[in-house]
Amino acid sequence: MERIAVYPGSFDPITNGHVDLARRGLEIFDKLIIAVALNSEKTPLFTVEEKLDMMKQSLKDLGDRIIFDSFEGLLVDYLKKCNTNIVLRGLRAVLDFDYEFQMSLMNRKMDRGMETVFLMTGYQWFYTSSRLIKEVASFGGSVEGLVPDYVNKKLIKKF
Ligand code: PNS
Repeated sequence: MERIAVYPGSFDPITNGHVDLARRGLEIFDKLIIAVALNSEKTPLFTVEEKLDMMKQSLKDLGDRIIFDSFEGLLVDYLKKCNTNIVLRGLRAVLDFDYEFQMSLMNRKMDRGMETVFLMTGYQWFYTSSRLIKEVASFGGSVEGLVPDYVNKKLIKKF
């Protein structure tokens, strides 16, 4: 049986931390569905089309074992649509832990069968977050090496 996981997030924009996690996820799972949540509370910098374009460009060498998608509504409902019960998420510092723990438990409250698999972020990306990357880029700082080159160009263009 194929082991499928959903890697959900805001991906505004995708960072090298996300790219690393997706690659490592594919060493565990046969297929990874990387999905942009449409109804995240945050006001996004990029449109969903722009986000998906950057994700595809950044992970294009991974072939057809990775699927790019977006979803609206609850993650638990989206998982059912994808015929899987597994979510992949990255953990950076202790800061992420509370938030991830809460989400994972809330999701399991809604669907007992759901499981979240956490991978520790690679140490190079420990301090990388889409929020900080946008902040640095918005003030003209360099985020080279923290995001794929394609994303870096899009950020420079945006600001
Ligand atoms: O990259 P992010 O912003 O940390 O990702 C958060 C995300 C998109 C995984 C989370 O907000 C989510 O699952 N949103 C979908 C709506 C939902 O199911 N909310 C209840 C979560 S317990």
